[in-house]
Amino acid sequence: MCGIVGYVGNKDAVPILLESLKKLEYRGYDSSGVGFLDHDARLIVHKSKGKIRNLEELLASHTLPLAHAGISHTRWATHGLPCDTNAHPHTDSKHTIAVVHNGIIENYQELKAELKKKGCHFTSETDSEVVPQLIAHFYKGDLLAAVRQAIAKLKGTFALGIISREHHGLLIAARVGSPLIVGIGDNENFIASDVPAILEFTRRVIYLKDRQIAVLTKDKAEVYSFEGKKATPVIDTVSFNVTAARKDGFAHFMLKEIHEQPEVLAQMLALRLKNKQLSLEGLQLPDAVLKRTAKVVVVACGTAYHAGLVGKYIIETLARLPVECDTSSEFRYRNPIIDKNTLVIAVSQSGETADTLAAVREARAKGAKVIAICNVVGSSLARESDSILYTYAGQEIGVASTKAYTAQLMMFYLLALKLAQVRKTLKPQEWKSLVNHLVRVPSLYKTILKGIHHIQKVAEANSHFGCFLFLGRHVNFPSALEGALKLKEISYVPAEGYAAGEMKHGPIALIDEYRAVVCINPKSHVHEKMFSNIQEIKARRGNIIAIVTKGDKEIKSHADFTIEMPDIPELLSPLLAALPLQMLAYFIAVKRGCDVDQPRNLAKSVTVE
Ligand code: AGP
Repeated sequence: MCGIVGYVGNKDAVPILLESLKKLEYRGYDSSGVGFLDHDARLIVHKSKGKIRNLEELLASHTLPLAHAGISHTRWATHGLPCDTNAHPHTDSKHTIAVVHNGIIENYQELKAELKKKGCHFTSETDSEVVPQLIAHFYKGDLLAAVRQAIAKLKGTFALGIISREHHGLLIAARVGSPLIVGIGDNENFIASDVPAILEFTRRVIYLKDRQIAVLTKDKAEVYSFEGKKATPVIDTVSFNVTAARKDGFAHFMLKEIHEQPEVLAQMLALRLKNKQLSLEGLQLPDAVLKRTAKVVVVACGTAYHAGLVGKYIIETLARLPVECDTSSEFRYRNPIIDKNTLVIAVSQSGETADTLAAVREARAKGAKVIAICNVVGSSLARESDSILYTYAGQEIGVASTKAYTAQLMMFYLLALKLAQVRKTLKPQEWKSLVNHLVRVPSLYKTILKGIHHIQKVAEANSHFGCFLFLGRHVNFPSALEGALKLKEISYVPAEGYAAGEMKHGPIALIDEYRAVVCINPKSHVHEKMFSNIQEIKARRGNIIAIVTKGDKEIKSHADFTIEMPDIPELLSPLLAALPLQMLAYFIAVKRGCDVDQPRNLAKSVTVE
């Protein structure tokens, strides 16, 4: 999604605005811009389509005055093509006020029509441009008052950074539905969409809440409600560092994050299975609530949804609790049948996915308790749930989710063990056996990673195929969906995940020598069924890549390519299968010359519907 940065302080604003903006590139964008106030109270705006380096080249062609306040923006187009005019900041007709915006103004057409009737002249196709025009319309000398009147008219979601040439040294920010933080420095203050943008300047942050306005000068930071009530915000100190934002020698952030998984999972287990005793820090719900839970509903999007689908099998198997799993965008509009005995589990790496946040609000309005499984500390989802189980996977920069996904899976195993413990659905020796296998997973990841060159060869040998089918059964049916999503989102190759048992009901028509079929078939109670599917595919000249348990000679004799995984109980196998699937997708995308970390059209956090 869009990235926002703002600065007010004693230093030269423009270099800070650009360097901070670069730390938000991972969010995905198509254009960028910067606006700042010089000492002669001129408002200067430069913006450019494409990467931030294009903006830097544009700025280098101008003599820039010293500025101590400004805003900058990376745009991920929602309304209007990517182009210089549609890039932010946007200004009012008189070029007095400049605004950067992340979100969607749902009623922008009617506002635009009203403002045009009052003589406003618009230059862009964006929804965002109505914001500075509206503020200017209400402006009578008090910028904060004009901002409050303007945002009262807005419907939809927005995080805003606002400056005015008539208010030198003043930076105003406001948010509803889109993330925004305030950075507290010494004789300088910041705003940003995300913490990494300002970490090199300050670790002291205020996580602005929905319907709050921040009013910043270089030595003051005040927060108000939209209604004008002064707030006493909590100033947090950020603990993580920006090293995550370096590739540390890997070709791509995605490959780095794939390799981080053993450590991430080991840390999770160390934190939550101390001496094999379960401690789910963050689970604020008493055992009585877990005991009386009649059903679980998982809401999530994309990869997080696939984690939820695996979670369904895990919780139903271990805790014998019925689990529904829904994409957030479907859940929120289907008037779901939930009540106080429903436990909703919201899964989101970013904690800012608009549909998942809306689903959580819908669930809570209907009386359900919400547990969030989330990676970004302090995110909106974390603040809007009854309990928050952080995966602590560290910043995930690659748009394609890898370590966040496997951390979500691990969290589902731990949560299912907790539910089984509370509901007494597992014998002690069953519980202990599962825990003993879980704690082996990080080292099993290292074993699989040792085979990375073989997986690379398999990927490259199949990278020419124009269509992939991913097949799995039971707890690895979601693995097939996730494998397909990983491939399609970074290589742009059409790929479909399917329950293998559904082959005869349609997909088998696709099979011929021009297709590649990835069959996820570890040792399991459905292994023979999958073997039959593999034989059906072979008989139709499909090209088979089989992901199997080490030593499975039967499948090996039928597959064109085989990737082996260490032996593990079937229920835990999605944790292992995820790794070769990620690497297959990665190496195919690299072979095809794709922008692995920032795939086209995608954003790391979908904060708009
Ligand atoms: C994952 O590879 C995708 N980039 C995407 O599907 C993602 O999982 C989805 O947008 C949900 O994001 P969230 O986990 O931050 O809510």
